[in-house]
Amino acid sequence: MAKVYLTRRIPDKALTLLQKENIEFEFNPKDEPPSEASLKREITNVDGLICLLTEKITPGIIEAGKKLRVIANIAVGFDNIDVRKATEKGIYVTNTPGVLTETTADLAWSLLMATARRISEAERYVRAGKWKIQWNLMFMTGQDIYGKTLGILGLGRIGQAVARRSKGFNMRILYYDENRTPELESELEAEYADMETVLRESDFITVHVPLTEKTRNFIGEKQLNLMKKTAILVNTSRGPVVDEDALYEALKEGKIAGAGLDVFKIEPIQMSNPLLTLDNIVLLPHIGSASAETRTKMAVIAVENAIATLKGKVPPNLANPEVLKVRPPTLR
Ligand code: DGY
Repeated sequence: MAKVYLTRRIPDKALTLLQKENIEFEFNPKDEPPSEASLKREITNVDGLICLLTEKITPGIIEAGKKLRVIANIAVGFDNIDVRKATEKGIYVTNTPGVLTETTADLAWSLLMATARRISEAERYVRAGKWKIQWNLMFMTGQDIYGKTLGILGLGRIGQAVARRSKGFNMRILYYDENRTPELESELEAEYADMETVLRESDFITVHVPLTEKTRNFIGEKQLNLMKKTAILVNTSRGPVVDEDALYEALKEGKIAGAGLDVFKIEPIQMSNPLLTLDNIVLLPHIGSASAETRTKMAVIAVENAIATLKGKVPPNLANPEVLKVRPPTLR
């Protein structure tokens, strides 16, 4: 009987699928990531690992999983997994794309709007009992969104869903992506431009690139200097894609107007992070895909990926297809 270890308890709807397939499972009962030592211990004898993006699946952990055949991440991003090592060992790595696209696009828009209209700042003001004068003409004035230019960096699934939502705001859409896709340009009425043009001309810039060695500090001092003084940066991808020190300087010096971040270099954010001292930033605790429906679906998809692999099939969301050459499914 195949056995799976889960680094956290996941919804029953997903666990039931393992039961139906007679797959034995155990999960970490704590609401926090297991330590590297305990994870190494837990996976010695299991065929599958189902984990969250908070778990760093290091080469050491992968080596410890002597029987491991699949690492099913409950996230679309899989930068927490040493994919090269997994591939070398013939281990399938899977993710959960698609299902969280719309939910994450909603959150990118929530951040964009909250930052442009100073929603968090205004709410803090009300709760602190500072609202003493009923109405003042230029009080808490933010920026209009309607009719402005939206710059999208990375026009993958989530970037496209963000673009679709901008239609109601009658926006000009500029995008930059490593791969230009003319079909999407007509469908979304989006203009392709080089990164510099997107940075220079956009009022709102939203980042939707995966974290890779190429995209680490993708937005740094140089890029921030190119942006309009009135521009707002939104990041719902991965924290290290934005250089936080450079962003802090840019926000403090007024080189850009604001930022909305759902992701950080170190999560949870350290209370010593200077970004916390600024008013022109909205900070969220990595909740891009956090709707109950979507998170449940993500867990179900991760389990389905694990089951497919353990049944000797190519899982629906194989993130390291090169592994098929190392270990074709039929050899499992
Ligand atoms: C992902 O799936 O990569 C997201 O960051 C989770 O919200």
